[in-house]
Amino acid sequence: MIIGVPKEIKIGETRVSMTPSLCRRCVALGARVIMEKSAGITAGFVDAEYRAAGAKVVAESAQVWRGADLILKVKEPLPAEYRLIRDGQALFTYLHLAAGPDLARVLLKKRVLGIAYETVEGTDGAFPLLKPMSQIAGRLSIQIGSYFLQSQHGGSGVLLGGIPGTMPGHVVVVGAGNSGAHAVQMAAGMGARVTVLDLDTRKLEALDTEYRGRVVTLMSNPANLEREVADADLLVGAVLIPAAKAPTVVTRQMVARMRRGSVIVDIAIDQGGCIESIRPTSHENPVYEEHGVIHYAVPNMPALVGRTSTIGLTQATEPYVAMLVRHGIEGAISSTPGLARGVNTENGKIAYGAVAKALGYTS
Ligand SMILES: NC(=O)c1ccc[n+]([C@@H]2O[C@H](COP(=O)([O-])OP(=O)(O)OC[C@H]3O[C@@H](n4cnc5c(N)ncnc54)[C@H](O)[C@@H]3O)[C@@H](O)[C@H]2O)c1
Repeated sequence: MIIGVPKEIKIGETRVSMTPSLCRRCVALGARVIMEKSAGITAGFVDAEYRAAGAKVVAESAQVWRGADLILKVKEPLPAEYRLIRDGQALFTYLHLAAGPDLARVLLKKRVLGIAYETVEGTDGAFPLLKPMSQIAGRLSIQIGSYFLQSQHGGSGVLLGGIPGTMPGHVVVVGAGNSGAHAVQMAAGMGARVTVLDLDTRKLEALDTEYRGRVVTLMSNPANLEREVADADLLVGAVLIPAAKAPTVVTRQMVARMRRGSVIVDIAIDQGGCIESIRPTSHENPVYEEHGVIHYAVPNMPALVGRTSTIGLTQATEPYVAMLVRHGIEGAISSTPGLARGVNTENGKIAYGAVAKALGYTS
């Protein structure tokens, strides 16, 4: 098998889908690896390390796409890459097709075997390839939020931890999954007042037990959301319905009642966002203001910490990449139900129910 690793081209992206260590493992298992020049540089890995691990380093991304049976990426292919995708090629990456109808059309037309990191399932039904990036985005959401809360950045000037004798900032986290729980952890660690809302009582119980009253856990319903969002200095959107477009949980009306200079970080933007007034931003222009509230919605937040994110991501993908090399693509998929759940497009069809539903296809 030939694995191709292109350099990521999304604005501000710094991650790479393969470390020299993963490259060494793939080569030892019998794969050939073609890397685009400087693909790992923003994550701190130089070409010489990949060469030493057995990769062939090529100058152009077109050479990577042309030569590979399996393209290993981080972000979904962007329009500039559509023409490089070969008919029938296999692609293992984040796809987020529910929020990407154009890409879905390209993958179907080219009969791409699209395996999405975000829907690969562990034996416990969880999403092991989403988890590390969600943890990073959750942790980052608090440091990003506190940055934009600063007066010089247009924020309300609230210090999340406050000081003795002042009210700490109020962080409201909607969604208590991987990203939400890590946002809660950082916010609580900073000394903020933290409220977290979810529909899943088990998630709320776990946080309640962990924080022993230092964090308020609430059922996610319109009444609770209305009250808590209006009082939030920093609102973090962290909901997910697997593979589906994110539901609008916080309405524009709720946002309009927030204090001026408050901040929203909608982590769920890669699935369309869970806040009505949100639209995607980029690392170049990360925020905009609406209703006097600063909105941040960068779909590739982990790129802010390319080194940690690359190591976290590839540690999670490694067992699956190794399986694909060892058993071949079809063999690995048919023998591993969790990997098969990652298949989003196959033979010109959407192969994942929630994605098909979100895009209006019949699967
Ligand atoms: N922007 C980025 O850079 C970035 C990075 C990583 C992950 N993400 C995205 O963040 C989102 C969250 O991922 P995750 O791993 O934390 O998901 P998760 O499945 O671990 O958690 C999602 C939580 O949302 C809850 N939920 C569903 N509907 C809800 C509602 N109406 N109100 C409140 N809670 C609700 C679920 O019960 C669950 O606890 C996903 O869209 C993921 O793709 C974005």
